[in-house]
Amino acid sequence: MRTLVIDHPLVAHKLTRLRRAETSSATFRLLAEELVTLLAYEATDSLRVQPVEITTPVSPTTGREMAEPLPIVVPILRAGLGMLNGMMKLMPTAEVGFLGMVRDETSLTATTYADRIPHDIHDRQVFVLDPMLATGGTLVAAIELLLERGARDVTAICLLAAPEGLARLEEAFAGRDADVTVVTAALDERLNEKGYIVPGLGDAGDRLYGSAE
Ligand code: URA
Repeated sequence: MRTLVIDHPLVAHKLTRLRRAETSSATFRLLAEELVTLLAYEATDSLRVQPVEITTPVSPTTGREMAEPLPIVVPILRAGLGMLNGMMKLMPTAEVGFLGMVRDETSLTATTYADRIPHDIHDRQVFVLDPMLATGGTLVAAIELLLERGARDVTAICLLAAPEGLARLEEAFAGRDADVTVVTAALDERLNEKGYIVPGLGDAGDRLYGSAE
């Protein structure tokens, strides 16, 4: 498994504004979108491209464009939705699949309540959007589902990651016949007793969309 922690001044600036408790939901949504676009640039460093013959106003030349089959972007509902626009800005022609997962706040285990992913995704590069890699339970379940459908190249984009979550992914996917990459803006200190990332940014879904209760 490959982990990329993106060390860039703009990423740090936007993340710091996201973390602030006083940042409003409206600003949080904008910042999250901008931050994802920056992370997406790094996360697509191995995007498959194919040669294409084109003509510029000056001469013919060979360029490169995204290869078929096109990649699939999978936001994990609900908080992953807040990352979708930022990702699609960079890859507007990618396909989008949806995965609804909820974590039980007591057991911290993830269950799937919505699945809009094609049944066969072998040969497709997949980009999973999940803002908080905390215990790793949700992301492990999501990536397992994608591997069962045939994916062999999965990149998870997370705003923040905790060491516990990364270790869980490492344990689940090290030595497996698949390229799994995690791209994140920061690796935080730890999880607290409620499974929140410390210092983190709180509940990403609530900060994006308000409390569901
Ligand atoms: N999910 C969140 O939204 N925040 C955390 O800190 C951990 C999990």
